[in-house]
Amino acid sequence: MASVAVIMADPKQSEERLKRESVALPEEIDKGSMCDEIVGSSGALQKVLSLVSKVAPTDATVLITGETGTGKELIARAIHRQSRRSSRAFVTVNCAAIPRDLIASELFGHEKGSFTGALQRRLGRFELAEGGTIFLDEVGELPLGTQIALLRVLQEHEFERVGGTRSIRTNVRVVAATNRNLQAAIAAGTFRSDLFYRLNVFPIDMPPLRDRREDIPVLVEYFVDHCARKVGKNIQGITKESLDLLRSYPWPGNIRELQNVIERSVIMCETENFSVDKTWLARQPLAIEPKIPPDLSEKLAAEEKEMIEAALRESAGRVFGPSGAATKLGIARSTLESKIRSLKIAKNSFKDFAETIPRRSCLESVQ
Ligand SMILES: Nc1ncnc2c1ncn2[C@@H]1O[C@H](COP(=O)(O)OP(=O)(O)OP(=O)(O)O)[C@@H](O)[C@H]1O
Ligand SMILES: [Mg+2]
Repeated sequence: MASVAVIMADPKQSEERLKRESVALPEEIDKGSMCDEIVGSSGALQKVLSLVSKVAPTDATVLITGETGTGKELIARAIHRQSRRSSRAFVTVNCAAIPRDLIASELFGHEKGSFTGALQRRLGRFELAEGGTIFLDEVGELPLGTQIALLRVLQEHEFERVGGTRSIRTNVRVVAATNRNLQAAIAAGTFRSDLFYRLNVFPIDMPPLRDRREDIPVLVEYFVDHCARKVGKNIQGITKESLDLLRSYPWPGNIRELQNVIERSVIMCETENFSVDKTWLARQPLAIEPKIPPDLSEKLAAEEKEMIEAALRESAGRVFGPSGAATKLGIARSTLESKIRSLKIAKNSFKDFAETIPRRSCLESVQ
């Protein structure tokens, strides 16, 4: 195979350590992906790998951006493996996959009885990652209240469990990733700019596969080899027509899409010469486009609701007046009241909030 950058993982090591040190949340322990090798020799990828080797030995917070499937998680793991923390845990959290009202408890843990169903104390993922690295994937999806708690972790290295009163010191390196435009989210009021600057200490932008087409042949060879071994096939070569096709396709799903197309083609392949069915490629870009509008309007409503709830919380349920939520949000009282009605927000439930939750705690929705 042509010039290939290879970084091997040892997820087992972290897993063993976590098993010894904690019995909680075994499902969050890093198991590694299909494999942790980073393949490619393009200038764009080499630039990324050089940033990785510079930042890895430091404790700097890293923000990895890039389209879906470009290898953000792979790079996060590489940073951990090349760091002084490599013998400690690498804990991943997909912020988009955890229900919004549970995310604070997942990240910071909770005390027994802190909310319905909290039958015993549970450690959060920051505590599981102690001494190691936490990878906050899809960080742009974090609710606003949890963003404040994360900011506190980054600034003061401490947090509280949900329902807890004691501050817990933490020594965890944060690597975050997003495929959202966080600047646009800041402009829309759904992502805190202070958190963005704290996360963006060392940005790494993953180039899309269509901007590093020279990596395609070596990736194809690598994935064909891997998949053929997995399914017990002997594949000797690839037809020129297929390779040209793979080189010219725009790959909206990037390397993950390439990997999936190859896995499917290897399964279908009946000769020693690998080929790709061109209809699989042509259909895919069209198939992913129409998804956006319905999701977006739902998401915007959820984000608007969250901002209003955060403002109500801060103003202890007051809608108007100098310290009321309308002033904090910079909108008219009547506008806020109509939004509270249309979004079905129970504004009275925020009345006692300031008295029951410690001021610096932001464990918003799990009360
Ligand atoms: N340079 C590479 N060499 C080999 N495999 C790669 C490379 N980049 C990505 N992959 C593989 O492609 C798949 C997608 O990578 P990864 O999950 O890191 O992408 P991502 O940017 O986090 O995607 P998403 O935004 O959808 O979460 C993984 O199986 C990963 O192992
Ligand atoms: Mg990812």
